[in-house]
Amino acid sequence: MKILVINGPNLNLLGKREPEIYGNTDLEKINNELIEYAKTLNNEIEIEFFQSNHEGDIVDKIQTTDAKGLIINPAAYTHTSVAISDAIKGVKIKAVEVHLSNVSAREEFRKISYVSGVCLGTVAGFKQNSYKMALFGLYNELKNNE
Ligand code: DQA
Repeated sequence: MKILVINGPNLNLLGKREPEIYGNTDLEKINNELIEYAKTLNNEIEIEFFQSNHEGDIVDKIQTTDAKGLIINPAAYTHTSVAISDAIKGVKIKAVEVHLSNVSAREEFRKISYVSGVCLGTVAGFKQNSYKMALFGLYNELKNNE
């Protein structure tokens, strides 16, 4: 079972970027932890990671993936991108939205997500564990629909 994990703009800076909000863990470590966690769910989960600072590249990746499910932290594009939302809807991929921080408890503009409505659900506020919780939920949805 292949799962695509997409991280949007500035998430390549994790570890250095506003650690009081996003934690001290860099993206490579978060990804490696997710691989280890996936093994505890099922040894046949294959994860592909993609990070980009460019909206169109994220749209292209969603359109061309052969993954069965998508975990996406669209970062700032969460609050602006009709294009990413349309791409997820357009290819009908089962997706979970992830945020490290609790976006609902921050600035007003972060309370709006263009992506939530095309996802199965959202996990926010648990720093790197948000990705693991999303994988747990997505894996069980995909497994139950096989
Ligand atoms: C974020 C929250 C967004 O509002 C912000 O722009 C990010 C990261 C998060 O993971 O908490 O870049 O998606």
